[in-house]
Amino acid sequence: MASSPDHHINGDTKTHISKKPKLSQNFITAAEIAAEFSHHDPNVARINNGSFGSCPASLIEAQRRWQLKNLAQPDHFYVNELKKGIHRSRTIIKELINADHVDEVSLVDNATTAAAIVLQQTAWGFSESKFGKGDAVVMLHYAYGAVKKSIEAYVTRAGGYVIEVPLPFPLKSNDEIISEFKKALVIGKANGRRVRLAVIDHITSMPCVVIPVEELVKICREEDVDQIFVDAAHGIGCTDVDMKRIGADYYTSNLHKWFFCPPSIAFLYCRKSPKCPELHHPVVSHEYGNGLAIESASVGNRDYSPQLVVPSVLEFINRFEGGIEGIKKRNHETVVEMGQMLANAWGTHLGCPSEMCASMIMIGLPACLGILSENDTEELRIHLREKFGVEVPIYFRPPKNGEVESINGYCRISHQVYNKVDDYYKFRDAINQLVSEGFTCAQLSN
Ligand SMILES: Cc1ncc(COP(=O)(O)O)c(C=O)c1O
Repeated sequence: MASSPDHHINGDTKTHISKKPKLSQNFITAAEIAAEFSHHDPNVARINNGSFGSCPASLIEAQRRWQLKNLAQPDHFYVNELKKGIHRSRTIIKELINADHVDEVSLVDNATTAAAIVLQQTAWGFSESKFGKGDAVVMLHYAYGAVKKSIEAYVTRAGGYVIEVPLPFPLKSNDEIISEFKKALVIGKANGRRVRLAVIDHITSMPCVVIPVEELVKICREEDVDQIFVDAAHGIGCTDVDMKRIGADYYTSNLHKWFFCPPSIAFLYCRKSPKCPELHHPVVSHEYGNGLAIESASVGNRDYSPQLVVPSVLEFINRFEGGIEGIKKRNHETVVEMGQMLANAWGTHLGCPSEMCASMIMIGLPACLGILSENDTEELRIHLREKFGVEVPIYFRPPKNGEVESINGYCRISHQVYNKVDDYYKFRDAINQLVSEGFTCAQLSN
């Protein structure tokens, strides 16, 4: 295994961490990549990086060293190292996402926490009568389930009116998304209501598709939407994440999905603007009132190591040709190639054009598998895991009125640096075997 960056990552050491990817030919080798992910279960084709991400061995080691620093002398760690270390990580992220100021970047546990922070503030808008009862919040129908629940808990309960933007699937173009979004804003503004918040995914989870966030943010501004929150749980390392170009008020991305951090860490960007009210961490502690970034770095005694390894992560990423941009590009190209290979092998199609996907893609499963419900997708997923050693999520698309013999089951495959072509062949062959045996999902529920 290549030497790990740990000895640089000492709270007091003058760290020299290159923000630039390597220019030489001295890139990480295939053998080194295999060693970095040798803790992955060799019996499983992990083509589902999207759900939980992945963390290489050298970063698990770097995290462990931070944990030991804390355990060795907690008073020194908390007083002298923690704040500095988190500030260093925030500075790196600020640069990567093209934010104006490090104060705009807070580190939190995950996208779910970031959503709670934003939605809590929306709830206060209702409870403090800044918003009228029935003012609207707009979200996509394909918003992540947990975020939808959060909207229910914070917005619906506080008296807000929630509008879901329906989206067709399979998708053919961005225009389909844009026109549905515009229609939802018209509904949101009906009867003198105001749209207080738009929650827009950058990459939806299931089915997965890259949403044209820049265009949607622009439309929100034209239509006088108060605030825009982009849920980019899959953002950094998977698609282009540029705060100035996107122009949202709030933007969150996990770093444990496509950025190799150990679980769990996300950033929450909050644009500095007199129009954006103060956000607060839902776990209130000593730093309450000192700004979200400082509040988030002090939520009691806990393990902050995922937030401290970001400089090591950057070093890991920069061992790859082109750094994070190179990884992203190659993941995209390969996942499209693998998606097309599977669709051809099964006689199906992709869920959207290749330019609407990043490092994950949806592929139709053969209709003869008889996927007729969400329960079928769950059962089939377990069957693929247990019988074939393939880990892949499956989406149920309810048939439209009048459709016969339609494809109602789509799988979502991911590609990350550790994946091999054989992972996808294993999946292809598993489905082909099921088809040739005359398998249907009805057999699993019996
Ligand atoms: C679009 C979206 N939002 C939010 C989340 C929640 O992420 P986490 O569980 O890391 O908080 C996910 C997780 O996959 C997601 O896909």
